[in-house]
Amino acid sequence: MTKVKVGFIGCGGIAQYHFGHFERMRDKAEIVATCDLLEERAKAAAERFGAKPYLDYKEMFEKEKLDALFVCVQPSAHDGMELIAIEKGIHLFVQKPMTLDMKYAKKVLAGIKKKKLVSAVGLQCRYAETLDIAKRWVAGKQIGMVSCYRLGGMPKVWWWRVKKESGGQVVEQTIHNYDLCRYIFGEVVRVQSACRRGVITDVENYDVEDASSTILTFANGIIGTFNTGCFGSGGGDITAFAPDGKLAYSIGGNYTITEPNMTITGKASNDYGQECDETFIDAVRGEIEADEILSPYSDAIKSLALVFAINESMDNGGIPVVPKV
Ligand SMILES: NC(=O)c1ccc[n+]([C@@H]2O[C@H](COP(=O)([O-])OP(=O)(O)OC[C@H]3O[C@@H](n4cnc5c(N)ncnc54)[C@H](O)[C@@H]3O)[C@@H](O)[C@H]2O)c1
Repeated sequence: MTKVKVGFIGCGGIAQYHFGHFERMRDKAEIVATCDLLEERAKAAAERFGAKPYLDYKEMFEKEKLDALFVCVQPSAHDGMELIAIEKGIHLFVQKPMTLDMKYAKKVLAGIKKKKLVSAVGLQCRYAETLDIAKRWVAGKQIGMVSCYRLGGMPKVWWWRVKKESGGQVVEQTIHNYDLCRYIFGEVVRVQSACRRGVITDVENYDVEDASSTILTFANGIIGTFNTGCFGSGGGDITAFAPDGKLAYSIGGNYTITEPNMTITGKASNDYGQECDETFIDAVRGEIEADEILSPYSDAIKSLALVFAINESMDNGGIPVVPKV
């Protein structure tokens, strides 16, 4: 098959990550158009790939014949680009969180289904090779409860600190970890969350929560807690407890299984970001089935609903909320 012709909307931080992956799959795909509101970003990306730069995505859609589109704008900036792409039959890779508006996400999903397009969302941690080991261990045990945390720093991009732009700490950041919880333990049917502010005091224009603690109830009866914040650096893991052992899994793919007479540790050594992008491109090329994509839009929307439910609970004094698409 000829190379997949790819366009980018948003050529900032995460786009650079994808660009590195595209450098390593030049035999399968070529970036032909790059769009950003900031001219220097669109141009720099275009020069790197011999592509055409654009400042306006509508013009890009008019002038280019794309097979696939990567949408890498900030969470609040998804203002119709996916819908135009769908209309034109362009396959979609969208960065997480795919929007801050569930109605918009549902429209995008309906379009993807109607046009039978290949879709993927940038929840690349699902591709860590050790995740299957964690999933299998959990599937073979009676898990009583889970205990999870993620503590990281505050990303420096201007929009992150403004909740109406980023969605806040849980929606923008911890969505990766909550998505892994869904992947490993199944669907969450109820959340109750509390948050706090006042730890980060020296950042202008900052109105996101510094930390939150959430109680999760899974459909299969497992209960769990998730503590997360953006005020330090502590890493994170998901620990599952069974009567006869425990599993600790970290988002980078390290794991430790502890049972009465043994301890096993391992780590992922695959480049899971590369695999995430390459799986999408291979599916667009028809070389693999689309169901090999571990995070299609249809599944990622459930993780989006989960983090929106957590926000709703923490914004309303910890009321129980049922995540719903
Ligand atoms: N999967 C991951 O691990 C991961 C990591 C970092 C960021 N992200 C996600 O990627 C997205 C982008 O984050 P970032 O760090 O690259 O942000 P960024 O601010 O560095 O880049 C976003 C770019 O989008 C451009 N943009 C916004 N609206 C546009 C429009 N209408 N047309 C064209 N360009 C437009 C901006 O000018 C900016 O250059 C966010 O949703 C973020 O959550 C994902």
